[in-house]
This record gives sequence, C-alpha cells and structure tokens, in this order.
Amino acid sequence: MSSDVFSKDEKYRILSFTKLEPIAVVGGHGATLVDMEGKEYLDCFAGISVVNAGHCPPKVVKAVQDQAGKLIHYGPYVYHSPVVTELAERLAAISPKGLVKTFFGNSGAEANETAMKLAKKFTKKQEMVALECSFHGRTVGTLSITGQSKRRRYDMGPYLSGVSFCTAAYCYRCPFEKEYPSCGVLCARRLEDIINYHSSDNVAGLIAEPIMGEGGIIVPPKEYFPIMKKILDAHGSLLIVDEVQSGYGRTGKMFGIEHYDVKPDILTMGKGIAAGFPLSACIARSDVGDSLQPGDHLSTFGGNPVCCAAAIANLDIFKEDKLVEGSAKKGKYLVKMFRELMEKHPFIGDVRGKGLMVGVELVKDRKTKAPATEETNKLKEGMRKKGVLVGTGGVKANVMRFQPPLVITTKELDHAVEVMGEELGKIEKGAA
Ligand SMILES: Cc1ncc(COP(=O)(O)O)c(C=O)c1O
Repeated sequence: MSSDVFSKDEKYRILSFTKLEPIAVVGGHGATLVDMEGKEYLDCFAGISVVNAGHCPPKVVKAVQDQAGKLIHYGPYVYHSPVVTELAERLAAISPKGLVKTFFGNSGAEANETAMKLAKKFTKKQEMVALECSFHGRTVGTLSITGQSKRRRYDMGPYLSGVSFCTAAYCYRCPFEKEYPSCGVLCARRLEDIINYHSSDNVAGLIAEPIMGEGGIIVPPKEYFPIMKKILDAHGSLLIVDEVQSGYGRTGKMFGIEHYDVKPDILTMGKGIAAGFPLSACIARSDVGDSLQPGDHLSTFGGNPVCCAAAIANLDIFKEDKLVEGSAKKGKYLVKMFRELMEKHPFIGDVRGKGLMVGVELVKDRKTKAPATEETNKLKEGMRKKGVLVGTGGVKANVMRFQPPLVITTKELDHAVEVMGEELGKIEKGAA
C-alpha cells in the first residue's frame, strides 16, 4: 500500500527536498508512470528532465543486463575499459566541435566541480563568475556558484569566496526594465563590469546554463553567449556550459548551447546521459583536459561500466528514433498550444522555452507580474489528481515546467494542455 511507504519515509528518510508528492511509483514505460495501486500517470517532468528516451527503454534494459552479467565495477580510474572508452569517443562525436576529452562522474554537481577545477588548473586563475538565478548542484562548491539564495541557505554555509555573479537574461523580468532587442543585451555586456569591478580580474571561467532549468526556463537571446564569450576571451577566461538539464535533446538540439553561435571550452552533462543511471560527464578542449595531471582528480564510481553501457544504448536510441528532431518539433507544438491557452487564461503571464523544455509563468496580474506562487502549487496538485505530473520552479516559484520524456506523443501533450486548461479555469473561478 502506498500509505505504508509514505509513513515509513517520514520515519526513515531524511526528507530534505520539496515535499514529496503522495505517489509511490513502482513502474514506468514511455511517458507513463505507474503507482503501487496500478494507477497510471502521464509524466511531463521525466524525473527532473532525466529519462529523455522514456522510462525503461528496452534497449537500455538489455544493455544493462548484459553488462551487469559481465562486469559491474572495476575501478574506472585504475584500469582501461572498452565500454568507457567507447562512450568517451561517442561523446566527443556528439559534443560541440573542439570538445574532445571527458572525465566521468556520478552526478551533475560532480561534473561541475570537475569543470571548476579544470578551468582553474588550465588558466592558473582562481575566481569564477556565475549567473544570477542559476542552479548548478547541491555540493558546497556548486551552491557557491548558484545564483539563488533560496538554495544557498545561510545556515549551511559558508560558501566559497571568489565567486561573482553576472545578470541572467530573464527578459520577462528584466532587472534593467528594458526590452529586447533595444536593450542591446545589456545583461551580457555587463560581464565586463563584473570582471573589472567585482573580481580581481583573475577569473578562470564563467559557468552558465545555456537555458536555465531550476531558475524557471530562462532562454537568453541569441546574442547573449557570443557577447560574453568575446569578453571572456579578452580576459583569458573560459566559457563553461552546464548542460546537465539543457543537454541531451531537451531543447531540440543535442546541447542547448547549439542554439547560440559560440564555442564553449568546457561542457558538463548529466541527467539524460544514461537514461536514468547515475552518470555525468565533463568534456573539454584537449588542451584544457590535459592540464589535469595524475592524482589531481578522481571518482570511485565515475564511468561505471553498467552506466556507460546504458549511456551507449541511450545514444543509439537517440539516433534511431530521432529524439532530438522530435523534441524540436513537439516543443514548437507545445508552445503554440500554451500560447493559445494564454489567450483564455489571464493567470498565464509568459510562455517560453525551446524543444521540450517549456515554462509557463503564472502571475496574479499581467501588469504588475505579481508571482502566482500559491496558484502554481494548486495547479500542479490539481493536474496530479487528474493523472498528469508536471514540475514547478523558477526563482519566484511560479513557473510550471514541462520537460517530459522526449518520446511523449502529441496526443499525450494535447491531454496535458487540456487538463492544465481545466484546472486553471477552476483556479480562476476560485473553485480549486
Ligand atoms: C543545470 C543543472 N546543473 C547541475 C545540476 C545538479 O545535478 P545533480 O543533481 O545530478 O547533482 C542540476 C540539477 O537539477 C541542474 O539542473
């Protein structure tokens, strides 16, 4: 019974995250999750943007079973292994040109920790610049570069010094109260001042999510990263892109940074890389990667062969089923559907996203843009009761996040939008 699990979780688990939804999940396939009572849910959040090829894709299950029967662990940082080598080669082939050498870890946060060490070692500089509204993980190091006080809680610090923050391209709530394009993308140009006035011009790199996930699906204009890269190059600093959430087809390209005309020096990935198995990667330019020497960095489980076998099968599915192209197409359709919904529902203040990384920002009033945080939670709960699971987030906790498995069908998307419309209508009438 689900209720037994709920009460045991209260007793035995440290529930340090947002309150758990009252569902005990035991199975999944495609974009469907199944609970202990056999009830099916349409999953529009994919385990926080992880199971991009759907739940339990049979090819991944088979590859994992085969690999587990041969070898589960051997010490990826002690010996060579063909399965790990094959994945590293395949990542170099799908990553933006110039990124060649990979370090494998277990989580997105670990990949970002690696990226910071690498950038410091290569540039021989010690500071970092990150973005306001960003999220890069829950370790002390990654919280130090996370631009949200709600995550960087004061009672678990102190956090690292030597970190400055530049402005996020949150156009809907532009801190300069300007409009794109007449703003001249001031948020990006500001990086020059941040380096000159907030740091000691000793910046190893800027770390940035190409499209922010936890911050509330924030999509910068096309000039944003090229402007910043020029400034970074002039200061001898690297561009590190955190693709943990925006990577692996999520935005309709293999990596989110491909929407911008810019070449990153380091890229981190996690979440969608191995269809749900714990694996992450930090891929860098060869010269940057070579700056780490034996003994500089290691991870016991990083590059585990079972996880790497899952990642290789996952990549095969991406190619065969054209998941990236599908994400672009379905994402455009979803945004169009939400824009239509926006005409009927004044609570919707903004609809934005790329591919199947779509955010719907809810406001109490379109003029004041007062965040409709309580209503966002109500909407999520109402949709869950009708069997549709979505994420919420944003720096003001008022963004509905649609990041489903990329295999979701158009019919399933229609259903999610319909249910959202019904529940929004109820909230607007004060009935929910
Ligand atoms: C952009 C980004 N970076 C890093 C992380 C941290 O990943 P993990 O939870 O695997 O450490 C996340 C997780 O949500 C993320 O969205």
